This record gives sequence, C-alpha cells and structure tokens, in this order.
Amino acid sequence: MSEPPDPERNRISARIGRVARVGANMSSAVGARVMGRDEAALARALREALGRSKGPLMKVAQLLSTIPDLLPQAYAEEFRKLQAHAPAMGWPFVQRRMRAELGDDWESRFASFEHEAAAAASLGQVHRAVAHDGRALACKLQYPDMASAVEADLGQLKLLLGLFKSMDGSIDSSEAVLEVGERLREELDYARELKHMRLFALMLADEPRIRTPEPIDALSTKRLLTMTWLDGRGLMHWLAEPQETRNRIAELLFKAWWGPMTHYGVIHGDPHLGNYALTDNAERLHLLDFGCVRIFPPRFLDGVVGLYRGLKAADRDQIAHAYEIWGFKNLSPPLIEALTMWARFIYGPLLDDRVRTIADDVPPAEYGRREAFEVRKRLKTLGPVLIPREFVFMDRAAIGLGAAFLHLRAELNFGRMFAESVAGFSTEAMAARQAEAVARVGLATDA
Ligand SMILES: Nc1ncnc2c1ncn2[C@@H]1O[C@H](COP(=O)(O)OP(=O)(O)O)[C@@H](O)[C@H]1O
Ligand SMILES: [Mg+2]
Repeated sequence: MSEPPDPERNRISARIGRVARVGANMSSAVGARVMGRDEAALARALREALGRSKGPLMKVAQLLSTIPDLLPQAYAEEFRKLQAHAPAMGWPFVQRRMRAELGDDWESRFASFEHEAAAAASLGQVHRAVAHDGRALACKLQYPDMASAVEADLGQLKLLLGLFKSMDGSIDSSEAVLEVGERLREELDYARELKHMRLFALMLADEPRIRTPEPIDALSTKRLLTMTWLDGRGLMHWLAEPQETRNRIAELLFKAWWGPMTHYGVIHGDPHLGNYALTDNAERLHLLDFGCVRIFPPRFLDGVVGLYRGLKAADRDQIAHAYEIWGFKNLSPPLIEALTMWARFIYGPLLDDRVRTIADDVPPAEYGRREAFEVRKRLKTLGPVLIPREFVFMDRAAIGLGAAFLHLRAELNFGRMFAESVAGFSTEAMAARQAEAVARVGLATDA
C-alpha cells in the first residue's frame, strides 16, 4: 500500500536524520577528548547534541549511563540528565499507523481510543484505550523505520566504545556491545515483548502483590502492543512515606527482580523508574515494559550463585571458578582480585545477615561509581579486560536496584532475603523450570 505524502512522516524521518548527525558530532567530540580537551566540557557538548536528538540513541545513552563502570563519570552524569521527549505522532499519523497494524476497521475494535498519547516510549508512544469488555488498555505503538534507526545507533555505540577502549584501556566492551545490540533489536519486536510479559506473569504468579499487564493478542502485532492499563505512582512519589512503606517497596522490587532470576534465570534488564509503579498505599507493585528481558543460559546462574556462595565462604577457588563460568578469560591472581573488589561491592548487602541499608551516605546517582573507578584503575594495569556479555544486564539490574533502595532509604535484611531466594538452588531444577516456562509462552532459549 503506497502512502500519500505525509508531513508528520517527514518530521519523523527528519528526526532519524538528526540522530545520524548527532552520531557524527559524537565521534568528533570523542576525537576532541583524545586530543586532551576537558572531559566535562566534552560531556556537556555531547549532551547538547543528544538533547537535540529524539531518537533511540537516547535509549542507548541512558542505558550506558546506568552501567557505572562502562562510561567515565563526566559522560555518565551528563547522559543521566537526558530525558526522553520524543515528538508525539499526531492523530492523523496514529490513525494510519493503527490501520497498518490492525486493518481499516481498527477503531471499531476498541470501545474508545484516545487521540493524544498518554506517554512516550523509546521507540514509539503509548495511547490509552478502552476495550469492548470495559477494560482500560494501554496501546504501545511503534514509530516507523525504527529498525534502521536502531542499527545506526548501534554503529555509533560501537565506535564510541571502541574509542573509549583505546583511551582508557580498562575494559574491552566488544561483547557488551553485542549484548546491548541483541536486546535493542529484540526491543523492536513487540510480539516478543508480549511473550516476555506472559513469562513474567507466569514467573510471578505466586506473588499476588506484583502484577504485570495482561497482553491482548488479538489487538497486538510486531509493532503494536495492546495490554491492560495498570496505574500507580512511580518510586519518587513514595519517598516521604514512613520507613515501613519504603521498606515494603524495596522488598517488592527485590522479589520482582531476584525471584525470576534465581528461580528461572531470567531478569528484567531495565529497572528504570518509568518501568514500574506502586499502588494501594504501595501494597502492590505494577511491573511494566518487557522490552529488555534477558533469559540467561542456566549455567550462568551457576556462576551467579557460585560467586555468592564463594564470597560467603571466602573460598578463593570457588570464587575463581565462578568468574570462569561468568565468562571472564585469562584469570590471573590480580584480575581475580580486581573482580572480587567489584563482586564484594555488588554482593556486599547480600552477604550480610542483618538489617541494614544498601550503602551508607551514598547519593543514589553515585551508587557504585567510586568502586567502579577503583576497579577500572586496576583493570587498566592488566590490559583491557573482556567483559562477558552476561555481565551487562546482571550488573545493570543490580546497580539499578541498589540505586532504588538508596532512594527509598530502605532498611532490610537483604542477606536473609537473598539466602531465602537461593535456598536449595540447583542448576538442573532451575534449567527445567526455565525450559518449561519459556516453552509455555512460546519463546525459544539461546541456552
Ligand atoms: N500497561 C501499562 N499501563 C499503564 N501505563 C503504561 C503501560 N505500559 C506502558 N505505560 C506507560 O508508557 C511508558 C512507556 O512504556 P514502556 O513499555 O516503558 O516503553 P519503552 O519500552 O519504550 O520504555 C511507561 O513508562 C508508562 O508510563
Ligand atoms: Mg520503559
């Protein structure tokens, strides 16, 4: 079907063009850094360039900024200030996109459909609608041409990280880029996201306090995801609540992230503040956005739990063996020591059987930064260390959750909670559970 010329379509194409230009600016900016210009000023320039862009490049930037050991601090801070404000598709354009997804009679398949977008998504926008059975719905509708925009961004990302590697020399992120690329490409496929959503519903079925949206198959496609609307308020709304409420929120987050991980080897890779909400006096957690979900090979969980057990027993051999399973190569004693610095930081609260905060006197935005700096300094002397791809989203989830717990000033026995979560862990049982769950929702594993 050939489409008539469309000014809004042009607007969106122009946006993608801008993204490509920003990419070019970015590499010249990084070039300037190599020439020795002030890093913070450079980061500001990057932010200005990125701020003018409305593309998924921002998604990449935000993603990177949550991995504290991947970007120098000045960049990370500037990136963190970015807010996704994609230009909304107007109603005529939305109608055309909906027609393309659901057919000419698309509007009759809803009782009502709001013309204005209710929220921006990174690759599209979310509209409220009402189903014929009266249920409130959320329709996530993708912009056109996002596949090529994502590919362009990934090219820039590779370039950027390659330059970092030559500048900084602590980390070889080539596998991390593969990982991020694979997840971003998956994120284009809303049909896959629908299955992820089902997978989380299944994995969290025993936890009535955590809810996921119910997907509506008949009103969903690869580029349109229709699901029940879940309301609630974001984390920041609850920060002045009593300790008990804040602790409860932290406990719900802990369950939502580490439960699926320890029982199924699956993690929600995007613990971003916009991706969950709380309701009913924070008795209930509404988990959203299943675009970035990592289904780990079961063997990797052996490494995750093995490292926990090794650290708890202070068993050097078990620790070293765990790093091997994680995928670290050339494990010399100084590398093991550097990795253990990071592991002790990430696992620290989980090793402690007492009520405590995640970290004392650390602002949430700086969580992990000092430790990452120290570890990077050590890695530098060892040559670029290849970061295994499984590390990326595991680390990101741990840091994202840690920052949320700091925001909440949560005081919990994280050690006991984790011990309960891995009590009786066996790779075989987990692998069987994962295979069954993944098959039930129609996903294939890469295990
Ligand atoms: N089921 C839902 N119910 C209510 N709001 C939703 C729902 N799904 C998405 N949203 C809103 O839309 C925003 C973007 O959706 P999300 O799935 O997070 O997109 P993206 O993958 O691009 O981040 C969310 O932050 C949230 O505000
Ligand atoms: Mg989101």
